[in-house]
Amino acid sequence: MAGLIPQSFIEDILARVPIAEVVASRITLKKSGSSLKACCPFHQEKTPSFHVNVQKNFYHCFGCGANGDSISFLREHDNLTFTEAVEELAKIAGVEVPRDKANQQEYSRHKLMLEALDYAAMRYRDALKQHDDRDVATRYMQRRGLSDAVIERFGIGYAPAERDFLSAACSPKIKQALLDLKLMSQKYDKPFELFQQRLMFPIRNARGKTIAFGGRTLADDKAKYINSPESEVFHKSSEIYGLFEAMQANRQLDQLLIVEGYMDVVALAQFGITYAVATLGTATNAESLGQLTKRCRHLIFCFDGDAAGLAAARKAMENALPLYEDGMQLRFLILPEGEDPDTLIRQEGQERFQARVDRAMPLSDFFFKIYGRGLDLTVAEQRGILKERAEAQIEKVQSRVLKSALRTQLNSLMFPRRDKEFKSNKAPRVEQQALASARVVSDPDTALCLALHYCPERAPDFLAALENHEGYARCKAFADFLAAHQLQTQQAMLLALATDREGRREQFAGLFDRLEWLPDAQQAVSAAEDLLQRIQQEKNRHAALKAAKVNKLPSQLSESEKRALKSISRSREGQ
Ligand code: UTP
Ligand code: MN
Repeated sequence: MAGLIPQSFIEDILARVPIAEVVASRITLKKSGSSLKACCPFHQEKTPSFHVNVQKNFYHCFGCGANGDSISFLREHDNLTFTEAVEELAKIAGVEVPRDKANQQEYSRHKLMLEALDYAAMRYRDALKQHDDRDVATRYMQRRGLSDAVIERFGIGYAPAERDFLSAACSPKIKQALLDLKLMSQKYDKPFELFQQRLMFPIRNARGKTIAFGGRTLADDKAKYINSPESEVFHKSSEIYGLFEAMQANRQLDQLLIVEGYMDVVALAQFGITYAVATLGTATNAESLGQLTKRCRHLIFCFDGDAAGLAAARKAMENALPLYEDGMQLRFLILPEGEDPDTLIRQEGQERFQARVDRAMPLSDFFFKIYGRGLDLTVAEQRGILKERAEAQIEKVQSRVLKSALRTQLNSLMFPRRDKEFKSNKAPRVEQQALASARVVSDPDTALCLALHYCPERAPDFLAALENHEGYARCKAFADFLAAHQLQTQQAMLLALATDREGRREQFAGLFDRLEWLPDAQQAVSAAEDLLQRIQQEKNRHAALKAAKVNKLPSQLSESEKRALKSISRSREGQ
């Protein structure tokens, strides 16, 4: 199709429109000597290395190497096809693109389809404001907590329960386009429209043109959502819902959060997370990943914590592995089971949700989380299973940096490190055991760590018990780590430590190697319970003494304060 626009026209228009004008219509340029400079729109940077050469009519970024003419700039920047970029350039120049007959026909058909879609979007929006039955929709949106501003921003509308809502009032041309788009069919010569009694989400392309719809049922329809069928203007697998809106809200997209649903994108935007988008395929396929990485090099994939969500996350990751290039950041955020971004952000607000995003797991860690799932890595055979699973996937990685990082991590999981102290110690193993347990018995801090090693889910209790206590630094650090990463099982803890990047492995390494010879879980945990109880009693005594000092009446003392006071006076009597 591109070849059908005469080459002479393309050359002419490229020469006629100064590139500075084209670039300046999209980003802010600053003069610098004979050229113009800006922070590059194609990669993230703080100091400008994107240069526009006015004489030679091209741009070049010394940071990422992006370069080209006005057409390639528009293609990259606006996410356009070649023909669309020529269109856009012609628009800037104020001229019409000449076409041959076939091309002209296709162009007119597309234009008409876009007009019909625009018409439909407008009618659906209007219906939300003035249709007689609009209450069904407005009540539903109220129930879901959608604000007027966000409804406006995403152009959300209402398809009423009529079989010919759009077609009853439109021109024959638009009607034909609606038929071509399969937004309506003719049943027994009567129009029958695809979207009825639905909340309508327009899907817009990168230029903001509506190219399709997603419709959520307002009734009890079995199909909760239906999407526009594929058409000449809508290719489901490469379109991304919310991208246009995200680009509108963010001058530069530093990151994109990829979620599963329309409602998720909209709710997140309403609560200030304006960089969420949804892919329209079920799994994030290579095509949509390509579209995403073209837009932004830092992607965070967000999935529900249920089995289906994890399977989708795994699929997205496996699709991403061969596409990963150095400089990209791909991370994974798994939500608590039973929640989606929509429900979660409404419960916890922007700040806490943002904190989750900030903590999302890098691809290289998520990789081992997925393939290590259900395996006990303390057992050699199970490590073998991980090796087999992981190696096949590592093969698919093109980036040498990522490949070698994954290999290194796999190695460290295969051959867990031994404590250097003990490695160099030539004493026989029995002596080492005696030495190790002797040490633990004499060190309450390690005894607590040991218990945590067996029961990482107790970390928050331990932290609470040790709050305001000056000692137990190691246990506190360890419990902090466990609680912060919500590590609930020994397995999760071992994996987290093995893939840790923040030096925790080193910090806790000695402790863990010693654990090989230590008492069993039962013993360790009950010793820890005793210790924590003593610490708690000590705390109560302090509190009681303090209360006594401020002359609280006995009736104002809490039960634990009373008990502590009694024990203090008893111990004084005994002295
Ligand atoms: P979900 O079922 O998770 O729905 O589908 P949701 O987004 O949370 O919607 P609400 O909150 O119930 O309104 C996630 C996405 O999967 C697609 C849609 O894109 C939807 O947003 N989907 C789902 C369909 O295409 N068809 C369906 O029947 C269901
Ligand atoms: Mn939902």
